[in-house]
Amino acid sequence: MTIGVTNRDDVLNAVDSAMERYGASRDELIPILNYLNHALGYLPAEALEEVSRRMRVPKSQLFSVASFYRMFSTKPRGRHVVQFCESAPCHVVGGRQVWQALQEALNLKSGETSPDGKWSLVTTSCLGVCGVGPVILIDDDIYGNVAPDQLTDILARYA
Ligand code: FES
Repeated sequence: MTIGVTNRDDVLNAVDSAMERYGASRDELIPILNYLNHALGYLPAEALEEVSRRMRVPKSQLFSVASFYRMFSTKPRGRHVVQFCESAPCHVVGGRQVWQALQEALNLKSGETSPDGKWSLVTTSCLGVCGVGPVILIDDDIYGNVAPDQLTDILARYA
């Protein structure tokens, strides 16, 4: 992921790629936003405005969608995004202890990015693998049955 993309050419190139891949149908809005969020590291206002113009979707609607789903961010994020599942099935099998340990290990609270731009920490709802809770997702890697004492080793895998 890229931190703090503000280069308009990068934004326009990413929007071009998203449109080539998914077209401009409103049915493809979520895949397009997902593509841009992944390609740019977040959804800058310039990207949302360009998508709004090309898809003829009101900006207010785009910003509503972008801010509703936790998988999207309208602010720059770190190179690695750690998502912690805060839903009940993970909570009852030790999620609270993992969450405390995760915040301490990263020295971050939910929604924060480390000063060096390496980590962002966010909470999320169910990640779809409730049977192996507590669950965290780092970038595209999912970890289940996470215990607090495993976090140092897990986080060390990311440069
Ligand atoms: S409740 Fe945590 S993955 Fe479903």
